[in-house]
Amino acid sequence: MKRTIIVTGGAGFIGSNFVLLERLRGNRVINLDCLTYAGNILNLRGLEGDPDYVFVHGNICDRDTVRQLLEQYRPDAIVNFAAESHVDRSIDSPEDFVQTNVVGTFRLLEEAREYSMSLSPKAAAAFRFLHVSTDEVYGSLGPQEQAFTEQTPYAPNSPYAASKAGSDHLARAYYHTYRLPTLVTNCSNNYGPRQFPEKLIPLLIMNAIQGKSLPIYGDGLNVRDWLYVEDHCEALHLVLEKGKPGQMYNVGGRCEKTNLDIVGTVCALLDELCPDSSFVPHSSLITFVKDRPGHDRRYAVDCSRIEKELGWKAKQTLSSGLKKTLDWYLDNSEWVDSVKTGAYRNWVKRQYNMD
Ligand code: NAD
Ligand code: DAU
Repeated sequence: MKRTIIVTGGAGFIGSNFVLLERLRGNRVINLDCLTYAGNILNLRGLEGDPDYVFVHGNICDRDTVRQLLEQYRPDAIVNFAAESHVDRSIDSPEDFVQTNVVGTFRLLEEAREYSMSLSPKAAAAFRFLHVSTDEVYGSLGPQEQAFTEQTPYAPNSPYAASKAGSDHLARAYYHTYRLPTLVTNCSNNYGPRQFPEKLIPLLIMNAIQGKSLPIYGDGLNVRDWLYVEDHCEALHLVLEKGKPGQMYNVGGRCEKTNLDIVGTVCALLDELCPDSSFVPHSSLITFVKDRPGHDRRYAVDCSRIEKELGWKAKQTLSSGLKKTLDWYLDNSEWVDSVKTGAYRNWVKRQYNMD
């Protein structure tokens, strides 16, 4: 059955991959995105003229816009990706994180609650509010500690993680207090096509191609659990279809790697894919730089619940996923150039008359 989904933040990295997959599945998508520096309309190229895709340029903090969309499109679900998502920026200027991640999610929940009260009891029970969150809310693990489960207490360490934790608690509370059918997913580090090059993997790829240095914070031994973005999107789809309201679902790649492992693998793959580059071996570009303040040492996700209860499993390994990612960045020079030069922001200015 065709469903109507309001996706917030659908012009960002994971949101755009999700929108494209949901359109392939035949669901109607209304994408509400205010196009911060991280939102890129080029991510949704191919959907122009699609009658079942609507882009709405607006902010999740704006209750009137959200209310109007709910009334106009009568969605079956809201999937909330919209967020300030970069840890380093949250250290530099945390206020935007509280505003979008906490206040914005709160306002969306409030409007969703009002909307669900206007539905028949059957439609209200079938409605879903899926809040997309992160493993960073659980804090940092020591080398021998067990991976995060859904029972691990929250202990966020950065302003970003704290703001996501706040929004997760609100989503949970709206289920317990108002029976709004909310679900929260806590996913590990994603990588793949369309990721803005402030994050480690696309930054390494884009810098390496240009022969720029590959900055590694501290000793490079911090560990992350890596997941290919489409595997995350498949997990979100399953949670929407089969997840239990009020429940949290961890999502991860069972793929713990140090940052040095990652940079080494990216460099080796690039050496293979671009043997004629004058920057071979790309590993010579690796440079150790000052550490991130409060840098979490290790994340690892136990995703047994979603595997056992919903039958989800990651399809890509790190090497197959990285190969797809590198191919995408090498094949999409227009996207890469536009992000580099800021040309896509000029395009948005013309198209949407925004500053
Ligand atoms: P992103 O920064 O690439 O995209 C965020 C999108 O949200 C952008 O399109 C931006 O324009 C939009 N946005 C920001 N503020 C908004 C607002 N107030 N109103 C409307 N739109 C707004 O982020 P991402 O990496 O795609 O992450 C998406 C979500 O997934 C976030 O909630 C993030 O916390 C979560 N998450 C990310 C990862 C990861 O590895 N990237 C892992 C787990 C969870
Ligand atoms: O764990 C999920 C989270 O993963 C998401 O919730 C966040 O939105 C997403 O940004 C990501 O957070 P991280 O801080 O783990 O990702 P980032 O790509 O910024 O950094 C990954 C690791 O690489 C981290 O240990 C810091 C390090 N790093 C990062 C950058 C940008 C470097 O060594 N050098 C760099 O230049």
